[in-house]
Amino acid sequence: MAGSCGVDFGTSNSAVAVAGASGVELVRLEGQGGTSPSAVFYPPRASPLFGRSALRAFAEGEEGRFMRSLKRILGSSLMGQGTFVNDRRKSFESILADFIGGLKSRAEAQAGRALESVVMGRPVHFVDGDPEADARAQDSLEAVARGVGFRHVEFQFEPIAAAFAHERKLSSEKLALIVDIGGGTSDFTLIRLSRERARKLDRSADILANSGVRIGGNDFDRDFQLDSFMPHLGYRTSYGDKSLPLPAGMFLEMSEWSKVNFLYTRKTRQTAVELLRESHEPGKFGRFLKILEDETGHRLLAAVEEGKLALTHGEEERIDLGFIERGWRLGVSREAFDAATASRVAGISGAITECLARAGLGEEAVELVILTGGTTEIPALRRAVLDRFPRVEISEEDKLSSVGLGLGYDGLRRFGAGLQAAPV
Ligand SMILES: Nc1ncnc2c1ncn2[C@@H]1O[C@H](COP(=O)(O)OP(=O)(O)OP(=O)(O)O)[C@@H](O)[C@H]1O
Ligand SMILES: [Mg+2]
Repeated sequence: MAGSCGVDFGTSNSAVAVAGASGVELVRLEGQGGTSPSAVFYPPRASPLFGRSALRAFAEGEEGRFMRSLKRILGSSLMGQGTFVNDRRKSFESILADFIGGLKSRAEAQAGRALESVVMGRPVHFVDGDPEADARAQDSLEAVARGVGFRHVEFQFEPIAAAFAHERKLSSEKLALIVDIGGGTSDFTLIRLSRERARKLDRSADILANSGVRIGGNDFDRDFQLDSFMPHLGYRTSYGDKSLPLPAGMFLEMSEWSKVNFLYTRKTRQTAVELLRESHEPGKFGRFLKILEDETGHRLLAAVEEGKLALTHGEEERIDLGFIERGWRLGVSREAFDAATASRVAGISGAITECLARAGLGEEAVELVILTGGTTEIPALRRAVLDRFPRVEISEEDKLSSVGLGLGYDGLRRFGAGLQAAPV
């Protein structure tokens, strides 16, 4: 009999949970670990690689096209454009289908049967302040899921899924705030949780409010790169007789995981070569041109992200940028990181305020804060969130897999272990 699963297609990492006779379990996408990087690598003449294999091929400098943060394309104007993959135009739908189809087949291999029903996670907002684009994003994802063979496709907000995963461990009823801050979005839900409530099919009466903003770890990478790295590559330096600043657009694109590939065109390289001739600080801007020529923009972002992770514990770090200039190690600090990303922290905090306001509640009403998503590790952001709930119980288990697991439980509840979608 065909079964159901939950798919957490994350901006940075994905997870799948399968519902079976003995409950719900995470699919071992990478051999052992539950989650797998949302990355694809297209070698010129072989099948695509996914997850850690894709990261490895890219890090080892193999020939091919690397992609990350595909989820951020959903609902954006880039969706219709497609991109060049090894000299051939490929639509984003087909790239997403490769990735999600890859998740499905690994899940089916572990489950030992076909999976035809899925609950897919979705952020509260794929796109901020544009309900039409938001609906388009979900429609695109649904079309991709159907295209790879899921016959029943339902959606659930990611923070609600995380709540379902935690709910199973509770000993008493709690009013919980779920704080899910991932790679692409920050999502919040105020929900009443208890083991008894977990048995109900319709949970709408338990959900007091949701909110979300399109701010995630990718934006912290971007701002950190622009502030602490790009000025050494010519950003905010000038060129020509009129001493105009170098156009900011290319530095901004180079700082976004989902846009880097668009810079690798002959036209952009040509423009950069011309600007370099008139640049007032060619030593700096020459580094930018080298990245364009070597197509190492993702490598720079990966170095920036590594710096961000190191600054979670350290106050100062040196980042190896030898691939841009031999022996170059750039010093970065937590203080500079915090200054560069302060507005993101404020934006996320604002979305928590909005969630509470929608429920007509103050912080004191919250009995449990559940932290999930990798970006909740950033110290300044943790402080900004947790200082608001000084005496509240905090739970942060299974931070990277709780959304996937919760979607699996939701799949079991909605579809059973069988074929038919139950009414919601
Ligand atoms: N120790 C850490 N310090 C700071 N950031 C971290 C840390 N560990 C992971 N991250 C960041 O967390 C993000 C990934 O988190 P997660 O896997 O929860 O996101 P996701 O589910 O893929 O994204 P989303 O739910 O927004 O689509 C990345 O931006 C990563 O850099
Ligand atoms: Mg997530």
